[in-house]
Amino acid sequence: MTPELMNEGRERLQYREQQGQNTVGGSGGLGGYGAGYSRVHQPGSLDLTHGRILYLEDVSVSFDGFRAIHQLSLDIAPGELRCIIGPNGAGKTTMMDIITGKTRPDSGRVFFGSTIDLLRHSEAEIAGMGLCRKFQKPTVFEALTVFENLELALKTPRGVAAALWHRLSGEQRDRLGEVLDLIQLSEQWQRPAGLLSHGQKQWLEIGMLLMQEPKLLLLDEPVAGMTDQETERTAELFLSLTPKHSLIVVEHDMSFIARISQTVTVLCEGAVLAQGTLAQVQADERVIEVYLGR
Ligand SMILES: Nc1ncnc2c1ncn2[C@@H]1O[C@H](COP(=O)(O)OP(=O)(O)OP(=O)(O)O)[C@@H](O)[C@H]1O
Ligand SMILES: [Mg+2]
Repeated sequence: MTPELMNEGRERLQYREQQGQNTVGGSGGLGGYGAGYSRVHQPGSLDLTHGRILYLEDVSVSFDGFRAIHQLSLDIAPGELRCIIGPNGAGKTTMMDIITGKTRPDSGRVFFGSTIDLLRHSEAEIAGMGLCRKFQKPTVFEALTVFENLELALKTPRGVAAALWHRLSGEQRDRLGEVLDLIQLSEQWQRPAGLLSHGQKQWLEIGMLLMQEPKLLLLDEPVAGMTDQETERTAELFLSLTPKHSLIVVEHDMSFIARISQTVTVLCEGAVLAQGTLAQVQADERVIEVYLGR
């Protein structure tokens, strides 16, 4: 979840307390809130003419002299579902921190499409461009319902007239219904998110990202802690998101990688060690040595 969304959620909870409403919204149907209006998210224009949605070249970053990322080069095609694997400490999360503007590299180039230099933008600006990230731990608003969490992600205007209880436009309502179906929470739309299972919370957060129509989604260990059934359902969900969305998935769960992967990139010591199909990288001696053979 973005810091901006966290704030909006807090504001909404405060607003509700002021209004004396309980936290388990039981009344009203879809879009049955009072008045108001919301802005529709407008992702920045993205130039995909060179067939690359993300491009990293010679990216390096050190922390107190420790090289976490070392001359890393990587590119992702539009509509691709790229899996990234690698041993603990390989730099996978740090790579996501760099792409999303959380960490600035010491050197290198990072481009979103052909023209957007991500190193010139803040974390919030990058999220607003449709490059969204999901951290490992689910961050949903537990006191809000499934529906309210998704609605929040539509990014209604802020402020007093934040019109939190706005009437959704038909288009927004359609999108909300579509996302509820995708994440298989249609039946649970009125449930407080706090009562969902771990896997359902993860899907809800993915749903919140989808409400923002992301171009590229970064997911860090999305199936950690899920049951086998939830993991399988997550694989189906991810496969259904492409090619409309591009995905970068970091995961240690090899059966999950086997289920969803096209190209797999193996990171080690902050650089690409090998790349190819899962079978190809699993047969690579260097990979066996540093990672799979442990
Ligand atoms: N902000 C930071 N300050 C200092 N060291 C850091 C920082 N962020 C990451 N590191 C170090 O950089 C290395 C890469 O860490 P990173 O979290 O990116 O690995 P990872 O591939 O995501 O590992 P895992 O599979 O365990 O999640 C680690 O040695 C880590 O301790
Ligand atoms: Mg990590």
